Amino acid sequence: MVYVIVTTAVLLFLNIYSSRTSQRLFYQSKESSMVEKCLLASTEVANLEVLNTTTVTDLIGQMRTMQVTRLIVTDRSGVAVYDSLTGEDSAVGKYVLLPEVCQALSGLDVFSWYYRDGAMQSMAATPVMSYGVLSGCVYMLESDNMQGMLMRSLINSILSVTLSLELALLVFSITFSNAFSVRLRRIMASMRIIREGDYSHKVVMGGHDELTVLGEEFNDLTERLQASEHKRRQFVSDASHELKTPLASIKLLSDSILQNDMDPETVREFVSDIGDEADRLNRMSQKLLNLTRSEAPAEVVEPILMGPTIQRVQRMLSPLAEKSQIRVALDLSEDVPVPVPEDDLYQIAFNLAENAIKYTAPGGIVTIRLRKMADRAFLVVADTGVGIPEDAIGHVFERFYRVDKARSRKSGGSGLGLSIVRNMVERNRGVIHVESQVGKGSTFTVEFPCVSKEAEA
Ligand SMILES: Nc1ncnc2c1ncn2[C@@H]1O[C@H](COP(=O)(O)OP(=O)(O)OP(=O)(O)O)[C@@H](O)[C@H]1O
Ligand SMILES: [Mg+2]
Repeated sequence: MVYVIVTTAVLLFLNIYSSRTSQRLFYQSKESSMVEKCLLASTEVANLEVLNTTTVTDLIGQMRTMQVTRLIVTDRSGVAVYDSLTGEDSAVGKYVLLPEVCQALSGLDVFSWYYRDGAMQSMAATPVMSYGVLSGCVYMLESDNMQGMLMRSLINSILSVTLSLELALLVFSITFSNAFSVRLRRIMASMRIIREGDYSHKVVMGGHDELTVLGEEFNDLTERLQASEHKRRQFVSDASHELKTPLASIKLLSDSILQNDMDPETVREFVSDIGDEADRLNRMSQKLLNLTRSEAPAEVVEPILMGPTIQRVQRMLSPLAEKSQIRVALDLSEDVPVPVPEDDLYQIAFNLAENAIKYTAPGGIVTIRLRKMADRAFLVVADTGVGIPEDAIGHVFERFYRVDKARSRKSGGSGLGLSIVRNMVERNRGVIHVESQVGKGSTFTVEFPCVSKEAEA
């Protein structure tokens, strides 16, 4: 609509402007030719010694170029001494009360025109000055059919061009806007379908314009939405499944205590089991919280050295290592600053070292090494433990995944540790990989971009 209104206004303006301009051109050419003729006649009349009907008629008769519809010559009082019209309507001897004559008698050159019955009537009048004194005026009237028709047909053709242009524009606008809104409506319909929850729906656009690109972007967005929705459902179902197991144990143990007549020793044992399960729930909810936190983008931090954090992890894990009779060896000689938050680094190192201790038989060794190569910093956690079977290596970073479910559960594992580690490594622009051989041990390597000392200085 706006498009149509704007173009109509422009066309209307062009129409009026071109009509006016062509009229003005006609007017100007007419004016100059008429005024010129009038001046010529008045100069000739001024040269006459006596101004009367006979002298003027003689003079006009000699001037061949005076082909006008009517020519009147008056004396200074406005009484006609010559009129090209003869017979009854002749003005000779009468006062000529035309406005052009009155103005010319006051000393002005006059030109005016109007349309009547398809003819252009142009009037011009000039004073006759002989020896600086006003002695009369010359008045001319020209009725021009040809010019009038030409003008009318020009204006008409400008109008018809304008109208047909406007019509074409209207048809074009309606067709174009219809085609556009059909495509737009298709996208909107798809949006509604997806809002209802059908993420598999795709919008088919065709064509090669911006709407096609919009459709493609939209499909891309829905695909991502579908993937994240799938992930969310999977997570909720996994999490509730994992929480169900300790809750079921607690319920079973408490029911047994209530229903059976037990000796105090067994009751104590059962209650302690209930406490263990509660601890497990507690740890799991803490891990779930960590997992959610690890999915947010990392904040920008000052680079830190990894060594102190690794030492803290070793201290925290020493009771577990002692209990499992495992020696934890550190090699922190190649420490470099990395742009990773201390909390993230702690979580990464703690989970990897905890796993290494948990999945290594008594008497084994866990080694934590720091290495630097080019502009990369490496954290390597190696153990001499049970190792990971080849078909499981690809899955250890998945949530709730455990190689040996029964064994891992007994040791309190929830299968979340490595997925937290991977999220934290990746959000700090690092990469993690694992090598393992069943029965020989596993090596987890975390790689970060490091900040060189020179750059820091
Ligand atoms: N160093 C390792 N040696 C052998 N197996 C490992 C090692 N690290 C991880 N795994 C295997 O990968 C699985 C996933 O590890 P992850 O740390 O994610 O879970 P978890 O240790 O079982 O539980 P959580 O860490 O949440 O307490 C473990 O259950 C274990 O089977
Ligand atoms: Mg773990």
